[in-house]
Amino acid sequence: MRRIHALIYPALLVFVFLTAGVFFRVTIGCAQSAEEMSQAVEAKARVEKKAQPAEQPPGPEQNQIQQQGQTQQNPEPSSARPPASCLECHTRITPGIVVDWQLSKHSRNEVECSTCHGERHNAMTDVSEARIVLPETCAQCHDTQVDQFSKGKHALAWAAMKAMPTVHWQPMAQIEGLKGCGGCHRVGLKTKGEVGDLVEKGSAFGVSSCDVCHTRHLFSADEARSPQACRTCHMGIDHPQWEMYSSSKHGVRFLLKQSRMLPEEAAAPTCQSCHFRDGSHANRTAWGFLALRLPLPEDPQWAKDRTTILQGLGVFDPSGKPTPRLDIMQSADVLRLNDEDWLAEREKMLKGCNDCHSINFARIELEKSDQMIREADRLMAEAILTVAGLYQDGILKKPESYTYAFPDLLTFHDAPTVVELKLFQMFLEYRMRAFQGAFHANPDYSLWYGWSSMQRALTEIREKAADMRSSKAEQPQPAQKPVRPSGRK
Ligand code: HEC
Ligand code: HEC
Ligand code: HEC
Ligand code: HEC
Ligand code: HEC
Ligand code: HEC
Ligand code: HEC
Ligand code: HEC
Repeated sequence: MRRIHALIYPALLVFVFLTAGVFFRVTIGCAQSAEEMSQAVEAKARVEKKAQPAEQPPGPEQNQIQQQGQTQQNPEPSSARPPASCLECHTRITPGIVVDWQLSKHSRNEVECSTCHGERHNAMTDVSEARIVLPETCAQCHDTQVDQFSKGKHALAWAAMKAMPTVHWQPMAQIEGLKGCGGCHRVGLKTKGEVGDLVEKGSAFGVSSCDVCHTRHLFSADEARSPQACRTCHMGIDHPQWEMYSSSKHGVRFLLKQSRMLPEEAAAPTCQSCHFRDGSHANRTAWGFLALRLPLPEDPQWAKDRTTILQGLGVFDPSGKPTPRLDIMQSADVLRLNDEDWLAEREKMLKGCNDCHSINFARIELEKSDQMIREADRLMAEAILTVAGLYQDGILKKPESYTYAFPDLLTFHDAPTVVELKLFQMFLEYRMRAFQGAFHANPDYSLWYGWSSMQRALTEIREKAADMRSSKAEQPQPAQKPVRPSGRK
């Protein structure tokens, strides 16, 4: 009953506020003077043109967050009229934001619009003075979460994206414009320079990191505790955790709880049960995204296969020596180099499983998933060596952008030949699913979308390679020019 009330009351409140908002819009909005309207248009135009906010709180340097007092200046209003309050205007201009804020715990705790955005913007004509909100703003009151967050993997998301060698080949709108890679990787902390870059090239937004799970302006912990909060980013080609989870027994049970088919007390883990143990914002897994780490495993075949994959990533050169990419991948924590950290994360995860399963059951389940990484690496290495052979035998010529005559998986979808694109797909889509599906208790993802797809891709790559060898014997292949987005080199 209390749960039902908890749902109905906010819903009623939303209704009342929305209705009030519409009423306000219609009555006040109509009464708005022509002068005010044109000021609003002017203000909007200025917002769009805005380069750098006049006063910026200091950005995180080298991803280090420091708690610091905010310097807020509140200059004398220039006109004789007293400044209108934020709400007076924003109930009319952005009613949805005001409703959200009114529903939030912030509004009940005197965390006002100006607490986060400052007081310098207070009129139609000075919109560009509104302060952008960085994690430091939240740290004034939530330093525990900001501190935890800065030690977790999300904090490195911007850096990891930027570490990819062909990121500058993607359209600007996808990176700084936050429409693609940047739309998800925005969660990462940014240096002061990177914040400036975003403001200049993209918009003044996407810098806050803290509004992706408990979204603005509700900032609701309940929203963040729901697995749906992770869905927008943890989905799709290379990390379909939402798809895997929601169709696994874990997710099915939880979704049945959400729709009240199962009692609230029924056991069902969310993403957060396994990845936000004790509410800690420092999330990270043992293996990590690519499931590649050093030192190499003891199993000699697996060690060879992982080395081949690391060569495909350009971390080792074709002779097996480390390259500068090793440092880059290490600095963004893409490549894990520490056995102790792996073990610590694994034990933490097992403790979570143990809330519902026997520790033996859980340990065996995770070990089987580890073995799927080994199995997948076997197929992956075979495919990489097949394409590497084409380079070694002069069937494929080294592209200018490549350091070595060896396939480069980090070229992503910009790889120059169809056979390499298949290799990329096998790596970033199928291999990932084979082991991620195992870890997320989803047999279909692990088998059909994962392992089976890898096998089929390998067969295609072998056949394509054989075709290329025989057609090379007949005629030379014309070089293809890559298509780059305008405004990018
Ligand atoms: C006189 C009316 C008015 C008042 C008072 C006002 N705002 Fe605004 N605000 C606007 C307009 C107009 C925009 C432009 C957005 C739009 O047109 O949809 C805006 C935009 C914003 C933005 C977004 C900035 C951007 O670049 O788009 C923030 C944040 C903001 N206001 C916060 C505040 C805060 C905090 C206060 C109180 C300290 C406040 N506003 C007071 C009218 C007002
Ligand atoms: C707890 C801090 C906080 C409070 C309080 C707050 N905001 Fe915001 N606001 C944010 C964050 C974070 C963003 C997103 C910034 C970004 O994208 O980097 C934002 C963005 C905005 C934007 C621009 C983005 C959009 O969705 O249009 C407007 C307008 C805005 N806020 C208005 C308001 C108003 C009006 C209030 C008071 C009713 C308010 N804010 C209260 C944190 C806050
Ligand atoms: C001036 C202090 C202050 C600032 C700045 C602030 N908050 Fe809060 N926040 C609070 C208070 C107070 C609460 C209510 C705590 C409670 O009731 O236990 C709260 C609660 C929350 C909650 C939990 C809400 C819930 O449903 O339980 C979240 C999430 C949150 N804040 C996120 C943020 C984020 C993100 C920022 C920065 C964009 C931010 N806050 C900035 C003071 C602040
Ligand atoms: C990847 C998702 C995610 C991001 C990013 C995130 N949070 Fe949270 N946040 C959560 C989850 C999940 C919870 C609920 C944790 C729990 O179980 O109590 C939460 C809860 C909170 C709470 C309420 C804590 C409480 O016990 O009531 C605050 C405050 C908060 N977050 C602040 C922040 C701040 C500040 C940032 C930015 C540094 C941030 N969060 C970034 C997911 C996130
Ligand atoms: C705005 C997009 C976004 C949202 C929302 C989001 N994440 Fe992430 N998450 C990312 C990105 C990007 C990375 C990769 C960061 C990196 O490795 O540099 C990541 C990494 C992770 C990792 C670390 C994996 C590893 O390499 O060890 C975990 C665990 C994780 N997210 C869990 C969650 C959970 C649980 C939620 C929901 C509460 C969530 N995320 C919400 C974008 C997001
Ligand atoms: C029952 C526990 C459990 C649930 C529920 C769960 N995960 Fe996982 N997750 C794991 C395990 C176990 C791993 C592998 C950990 C390791 O590296 O050893 C993992 C790995 C990950 C990774 C790293 C890459 C990968 O897939 O191997 C991310 C990111 C992630 N999970 C996000 C999520 C998101 C988002 C959700 C919800 C949609 C979710 N997880 C639900 C247990 C869970
Ligand atoms: C839909 C959201 C989304 C988009 C779009 C996206 N990513 Fe990611 N990215 C993620 C998530 C989530 C993870 C972590 C997944 C996991 O651990 O399983 C991740 C992981 C990564 C990693 C690995 C980080 C690590 O430390 O292991 C890199 C590098 C990366 N992404 C780069 C990119 C680039 C470059 C693009 C654009 C070409 C891009 N991403 C597009 C969400 C996204
Ligand atoms: C909050 C409780 C909870 C947690 C935590 C949890 N599980 Fe489960 N798990 C369940 C339930 C309930 C089922 C469905 C049981 C069934 O199918 O009869 C299930 C099913 C499974 C299955 C499907 C196979 C089977 O026997 O049904 C696997 C595999 C699994 N869990 C592994 C794990 C692992 C590994 C972890 C930790 C990473 C974990 N679980 C964490 C509750 C949980």
